[in-house]
Amino acid sequence: MDIRWLGHSAFTLTDGSTTVLVDPFLTGNPKAPVSAEEVEADVILLTHGHGDHYGDVVDVAQRTGATVLAVAEIAGELEGLGVENTIGPNIGGTVAFDWGWVKMVPAWHTSTTPNGTVTVPGGLLIHIGDKLVYHLGDTALFSDLQLIGRRGNRVDVALVPIGGFFTMDRFDAVTAVELVQPFQVIPCHYDTFPPIETDAQAFKADVEHAGFAEVIVLEPGATHTVR
Ligand code: NI
Ligand code: MN
Repeated sequence: MDIRWLGHSAFTLTDGSTTVLVDPFLTGNPKAPVSAEEVEADVILLTHGHGDHYGDVVDVAQRTGATVLAVAEIAGELEGLGVENTIGPNIGGTVAFDWGWVKMVPAWHTSTTPNGTVTVPGGLLIHIGDKLVYHLGDTALFSDLQLIGRRGNRVDVALVPIGGFFTMDRFDAVTAVELVQPFQVIPCHYDTFPPIETDAQAFKADVEHAGFAEVIVLEPGATHTVR
């Protein structure tokens, strides 16, 4: 299973046949290695409604025909904007696909779409290619993170925001990794814009010296293969 970082919180996950695109903020993302016109997707997942996550969801969904999974209120908005296939669970809900499943879990943040729909944010547990990936979305550190990885399989890879200001910073993120207990971590939501510049290598050193997980610092556009 391959995880490709598209900069900021955007990733594609693929098992070789299905491509899952998460938080497709490409237009206006200075780190994006692909454009909204060329990115591939069979399914698009949104953690929440902020513009730096919602991004190009409408354009990419309409071009590719991808199904979009987002919290109920955002799915409803997208339907109204002409996105043909939407799935709108709520926090705690699991959606089964023929390639795996997606579960929406809590995140501590806010969530208003660029069109003004107000709703709650989430994180996403994504089971694909027999691997479990946890995209934390935008969140502060909170103690219930320990519950998310406790039920069912251990998280193989956690995608963790470390940039601070809008989310937890790299220090709180170390404790988040301790709570989630994943095997591997890919940091995200940093160095896109000045307010969220941080030292990803220092985060990696802190997590690994504590023995919490292996940290893979990717360059935007790079791919990590989970074995
Ligand atoms: Ni946000
Ligand atoms: Mn964000």
